[in-house]
Amino acid sequence: MGKSIKWLAGGVLCAAALGAQAQVNQVRVWAAACANCHGTDGRAEPGAISLAGQGKDDMLQKLLDFKAGKRPATIMHQLSKGYTDEQLAQIATYFAAQKK
Ligand code: HEC
Repeated sequence: MGKSIKWLAGGVLCAAALGAQAQVNQVRVWAAACANCHGTDGRAEPGAISLAGQGKDDMLQKLLDFKAGKRPATIMHQLSKGYTDEQLAQIATYFAAQKK
């Protein structure tokens, strides 16, 4: 019993230490899912919409409106529903920080 509790505590500490870095990587994974259509790091080919360098608040509002079905869309309704509002905020922050 005592042994397994130590194990557990060790695991929790380790997870906390890795947490910050894991979160950065997680945002990159989410952002990579957008790259097919919006370009690597949100820098789109001509004809598609670039996300890189868009204002964070503006981008987040568009994503939340897609999710709520308030903004007309072909594909973004379905895609935005796959993320929590908090995740969308992190994704918007990521793309806003990319160079145009
Ligand atoms: C399959 C292609 C595709 C993928 C993948 C995709 N998008 Fe889109 N995105 C679109 C299209 C097309 C539009 C235009 C609205 C519509 O028709 O849905 C759009 C519009 C947007 C807009 C509004 C841009 C503007 O200025 O009007 C934002 C913000 C956005 N996408 C963010 C994202 C994010 C974040 C992801 C990844 C989680 C993502 N998109 C993944 C195709 C895609």
